[in-house]
Amino acid sequence: MIREMRAAIFDLDGVIVDTAKYHYLAWKRLANEYGFDFTEADNERLKGVSRVRSLEILLEIGRLRVDEITKDKMAAQKNEWYLDYIQRMDSSEILPGAAEYLGRLHSNGVRTGLGSASKNAPLILDRLGISSLFDAVVDGNKVQRTKPAPDVFLRAAAELEISPDCCVVFEDAEAGIQAALRAGMGAVGVGEPANLKEADMVIGGLFQLMIVG
Ligand code: BG6
Ligand code: MG
Repeated sequence: MIREMRAAIFDLDGVIVDTAKYHYLAWKRLANEYGFDFTEADNERLKGVSRVRSLEILLEIGRLRVDEITKDKMAAQKNEWYLDYIQRMDSSEILPGAAEYLGRLHSNGVRTGLGSASKNAPLILDRLGISSLFDAVVDGNKVQRTKPAPDVFLRAAAELEISPDCCVVFEDAEAGIQAALRAGMGAVGVGEPANLKEADMVIGGLFQLMIVG
């Protein structure tokens, strides 16, 4: 299908900024504390999914069963470690081409949105100094159902006042690509083609779109 891109909606972690590595380090530390290992391959399953769901997957990997109070404690601990990394972040951690591409879209009259599962998204945008590059910010605090449900992207399209079929999503997670397709939007995978098989096309990073013009 050929579509006119009137709005571009971006995932945050792994597309605009490399926070994926900090999520991974914090989850790995938690797994190690509970006596099991957590690999980068395991981490692919956590990309794009909510904090609570990520913890459930982690517990499955470690074959651990814990009560709800322990779950809350574990999620809070992971977030505390994650925030330690985030507080130290600055604009040098914006991924190559991301700020430039957002700027170019703006100059070309394309609306820009953020569609992230993270409840820390506003804090991260603030740390990076790029909040003003987005016309709408939808994060994990604004929707109930997280990716692969389409809600986060549909909410962003509604806030941008652009019909879903004129929106293109940029995503590094399989769950995010599925969410975009369920929303009836174009889906550009950002990362390794092997991890993003359902995407309409895959790029290595937003810098590639600056090269092609
Ligand atoms: C997504 C990440 O963007 O946000 C996931 O890809 C993460 O790995 C999820 O679990 C929730 O993030 P947070 O910051 O609310 O714990
Ligand atoms: Mg992501």
